[in-house]
Amino acid sequence: MSGMLDRLHADHVNVARLLDLLEEQCELLQKGEPVDTRMLQDIFSYIAHHPDLYHHPSEELLFAVLRGCDPSSAESVEALAREHATLTKAANEILATLSAVSGQAMIPRERLVGMLLDYVARSRRHMSFEESTVFPRARALVSEADWQAIERGIPHKEDPLFGTTVSEQYRALFRLIMRESSDP
Ligand SMILES: [Fe+2]
Ligand SMILES: [Fe+2]
Repeated sequence: MSGMLDRLHADHVNVARLLDLLEEQCELLQKGEPVDTRMLQDIFSYIAHHPDLYHHPSEELLFAVLRGCDPSSAESVEALAREHATLTKAANEILATLSAVSGQAMIPRERLVGMLLDYVARSRRHMSFEESTVFPRARALVSEADWQAIERGIPHKEDPLFGTTVSEQYRALFRLIMRESSDP
């Protein structure tokens, strides 16, 4: 059963759209143009409150099972789990920095750009490794019984941005994502 892998992949596609938006805002920051601070805050609020709390723990259950059926994957899945912790820490630090900026704190643009671009690069690298290495191995090696056990253990919560109902908090961000995806 690879329904879980399909969902994890769909999460990656959604996060990649947010990373593209972040990169566009970084270009504006680098040119000294105004940026949409509210949008940046919404993106990191979403990342810290949804993928970091549901996507990462789901993957970590899968990693534990994969390590059991393929001991050679131990090192890479341990590294990925450590990256979950560092990515979550970075997202929370960026969120704190953005709320300081919206509270009129003076943060050098270069520092904010550095934090954002570093996050984008690390997050893309992380997802790409999962997609190219870990997911195919899991698809080939994890048994049906193990998929069912993982499925029972994963935390489920409706996605407040990309799910069936967009929460009030993320409506503006959702409209922006829709506009971007309809641009030629
Ligand atoms: Fe991950
Ligand atoms: Fe992932």
